[in-house]
Amino acid sequence: MVKSLSLKALATTTIVTALLFSAQPDASAQARANKPQWWKHAVFYEIYPRSFKDSNGDGVGDLNGITSELDYLAKLGVDAVWITPFYPSPQVDFGYDVSDYENVDPQFGTLADFDRLVKEAHTRHIRVVIDFVLNHTSDQHPFFKESRASKTNPKRDWYVWRDPKPDGARPNNWSSSFGPVAWTLDEKTGQFYYHYFYPQQPELNWRNPAVERRMFETVRFWLRRGADGFRLDAVNYLFEDPSLRDNPVLPELRPGTTTGEHLQEKKYNRDLPEVQDVMVRLRAFNDSVNPESVLIGEAYVPKWEELMRYYGPSDNGVHLPFNFFLIMEPARSKLDANVFRSVIAASENALKGRWTTYVLSNHDNPRHYDRYGDGRNNDAIAKLTATMLLTLRGSPFLYYGEEIGMVTTEPKTIDEVRDPVGRRYWPANKGRDGERTPMQWDATANAGFTRGTPWLPVPPSARERNVAAEARDPNSVLNFYRQLIALRRRSPALLDGDYASIGTDPHVYAYRRRARGQTVIVVLNMSAERRAFMPPRPASGPQAYAIALATQDVRMRPFVAGELSLAPFEAVVLETRNR
Ligand code: NOJ
Repeated sequence: MVKSLSLKALATTTIVTALLFSAQPDASAQARANKPQWWKHAVFYEIYPRSFKDSNGDGVGDLNGITSELDYLAKLGVDAVWITPFYPSPQVDFGYDVSDYENVDPQFGTLADFDRLVKEAHTRHIRVVIDFVLNHTSDQHPFFKESRASKTNPKRDWYVWRDPKPDGARPNNWSSSFGPVAWTLDEKTGQFYYHYFYPQQPELNWRNPAVERRMFETVRFWLRRGADGFRLDAVNYLFEDPSLRDNPVLPELRPGTTTGEHLQEKKYNRDLPEVQDVMVRLRAFNDSVNPESVLIGEAYVPKWEELMRYYGPSDNGVHLPFNFFLIMEPARSKLDANVFRSVIAASENALKGRWTTYVLSNHDNPRHYDRYGDGRNNDAIAKLTATMLLTLRGSPFLYYGEEIGMVTTEPKTIDEVRDPVGRRYWPANKGRDGERTPMQWDATANAGFTRGTPWLPVPPSARERNVAAEARDPNSVLNFYRQLIALRRRSPALLDGDYASIGTDPHVYAYRRRARGQTVIVVLNMSAERRAFMPPRPASGPQAYAIALATQDVRMRPFVAGELSLAPFEAVVLETRNR
């Protein structure tokens, strides 16, 4: 339950807690250990604020638009929203280039709008997680303007500046994620500055303790305003090798990739050990302001062992390092039972009981509706993948619109492209506009997103695929998500249970979740054929399996005895009940 605490109440609670800690350290530590962490049971919902709902007709979504749709989110059943950046920004990277960490960009609203959003969300028991872009600022941030003013400016060392090589070349061979190179020469002072992303996103120098102190204050600022946690942007890029050694160049460009980032192994500018030290200090700082605030780390790393480090040496780092292994190859684009079984096995083996996240879509990747869809059974497949996402052992992250089966709608011409990376690499890479199109609320002009001109065109699919139409259709993707989330919320096995994979059928991915006297079996037919599945016997004699939810057949049988026949792409959730 979210409590809307006033600042005064919060301060009092903190003092009382501190007194309790000093008086009875053991009892209090025990109480903390026993307290369920809200984010373990939460369904998160990512909102890209530009595209969710526009309240003032300027064609860009805003905070008041989000507030106006909180009832929709409450009905969907989500426990927390994660809102991507809404801070003042030149919007080169649509908010991921922040020019003021402690304000709201006028196109998204005001601080008062944020306060109202938090209050209204908390009233509906929805937590509010916000983005913290701590690796880089905008080049228009006053910190960077000062830093670039002269070589002797007190903030010079807040960013990563280096002299050119004697021949005038850039300091090393590092490439930028958005291509091509990660260094830009500042003509005025004759030095290069480092930016892993766009040149308008200079990297902060986290080796400077003043940077850390100042950035941590941002955490305090938003927690005091009622935020419930942070998604930490690009956190694995915080540190660079001090001697700036060249990255090893990979022999080939991976097929299908078009930006510079896969040309080299990011040995010297990604995941340096110092990152983990900052995460531990950030966690301590976060907990000292609000121990319930959650830290969610964005780190696309190729191996589980690298991701595990984010939990901290004694689970004192990031609470939830984002698990992207369902968005990455081999699970990214192929609906294949063996692949999912082995990717989840790798997660479970690495985690050793720790909590994780699961996600299929976000604002940086094509939507999974069409990544997995076969063009004929897309809705069935969307329900199947939703069933997996919401029943694995971890906190699921939904991306706005996936609950109505929104499709990726790429720009048709280069003139339409808004994401700079799409303009640079058109047509091989059309950028990320396709997954950022406006939310489809109804069948009216502009899908009910705005009364103005939307910043990105509304996809033609909005005429049939929208919240209003799907709310009326009992078999819609939307109503399926609602049922699934409701089922998850009332199921101890789905919330807390352990995980065990069942069987080896190459077409059917099945698993058991078990907790406190309840067992749930999830059966996912990932093929276009009918398949049979034999559920294992329930552990307790008087219990039997009942169908809690199925994506296709309307099943009236109260209990399942013997073999289960699955329709193509059908998902079935069984739960034990007493006969
Ligand atoms: C990751 C964000 O998700 C992405 O949208 C952004 O472009 C980069 N970080 C840079 O901030």
